[in-house]
Amino acid sequence: MIRKPLSRPVASRELTQLRARLAVAEETLRAICSGEVDSVLVAGKEGSDFFTLDGTGHVYRVLIESMNEGALTLTPDKTILYANQCFARMVKCPLEQVMGSSLRHFLSAGDLTTLGPLMKLADKSGSKIQVQLNARGGSKMPAQISIRPIGGDGLNRRSIGMVVTDMTEARRTEELLRGLTHRAVQAHEAERGSVALELHGHITQLLCAVLVRCQTLADRLSPRDGIAKSEALKLRAMLGKAATEVERISRHLRPSVLDDLGLVPALCDISTEFAERVGVSLKLACTTLTARLPADTELTLFRILQEALKNVEQHAHASHVTVRLTKHGGGVQLVIRDDGISFDPMKNYPNLQRGMGGLGLLSMRERVSYVGGTLTITSAPRAGTEIEVRIPPPPKPTSKRATKSQR
Ligand SMILES: Nc1ncnc2c1ncn2[C@@H]1O[C@H](COP(=O)(O)OP(=O)(O)OP(=O)(O)O)[C@@H](O)[C@H]1O
Ligand SMILES: [Mg+2]
Repeated sequence: MIRKPLSRPVASRELTQLRARLAVAEETLRAICSGEVDSVLVAGKEGSDFFTLDGTGHVYRVLIESMNEGALTLTPDKTILYANQCFARMVKCPLEQVMGSSLRHFLSAGDLTTLGPLMKLADKSGSKIQVQLNARGGSKMPAQISIRPIGGDGLNRRSIGMVVTDMTEARRTEELLRGLTHRAVQAHEAERGSVALELHGHITQLLCAVLVRCQTLADRLSPRDGIAKSEALKLRAMLGKAATEVERISRHLRPSVLDDLGLVPALCDISTEFAERVGVSLKLACTTLTARLPADTELTLFRILQEALKNVEQHAHASHVTVRLTKHGGGVQLVIRDDGISFDPMKNYPNLQRGMGGLGLLSMRERVSYVGGTLTITSAPRAGTEIEVRIPPPPKPTSKRATKSQR
């Protein structure tokens, strides 16, 4: 539709009217922010709704305006009745445009789907959700929204209060910590590798050389040197045991079979060693892997089985363990189940926060999260303990050659 240009006097009159309306809007906003307004009338399709701003008296309003967090009051259909300046800064939008608009403008469809039921169900204790706030100009900001119903005085139809916290710094710190943990794990692995090499290359070789000399000595002693000969043979047997033990420790520190033969032979190796040494029956079922998994994934799964078996040995009092490695949605799944005394996985976290308790379960979680997987621990009396690890397939590399051939 082509609008006819307005005549000069009409345009000037419209401009004056618009200026006057803007002045009224600005004055209303100022009054809301400073606590001079007690109620708001919102015109809707089915008539007007009356919302009081009780509880946001002058003192509270000043407090809310000086907060470093976004504060919102919304109708159940997500219309923003009130927002503080901080929220307007977060979404990079003038306050007068934020108020009266819908929260939908500032959230993705996925976040809105999660938020909907939480707004309906939020009881007195409230609830929290992590979202990406859409700011004007296309930028995004990680945020946490705390939801709490604040209506219920008979006039407000269940209006909802929200506090929006900027999580940018928290996410950055988490990311930094995750990176540091990963580097610490990598350094730890490298250290284990070099100790394993030293043990295997030097100590075991030395023990074997002494063992051979001991055997030679025993062979040279005649039957007349009965006691000396039997002592030499005993010494030889002890050296043999010491060499086997050093080899076991070296393998435990860095399994060469994992590097040389891959995940399945390495899982077989520690399972067999565990069953023989601890005397607990262990059933292992592994899928056939046609290709090697990424080195990080292989090492993660290997270390998790190692930690889990150590826990079975130290805590579970189990008589049977099953270990299952399967393919799962393009990735892999490892399940370790024991029929032992079980435990309460949630009880470990308070201990960890106080700097107490073991590190086994924590290190399992850290390792799994680094390779983008999930770890679930299920433990219940008389049902034993199950540790389930799922690791997704690695992201496909975007090779230059593939891009070229598509052209
Ligand atoms: N399979 C299991 N059966 C019964 N209890 C278990 C099992 N796995 C873990 N737990 C319980 O969970 C606690 C924490 O385990 P975690 O591996 O984190 O630490 P830890 O074994 O005590 O010490 P660390 O692993 O550092 O040597 C254990 O102390 C134990 O009480
Ligand atoms: Mg442990």
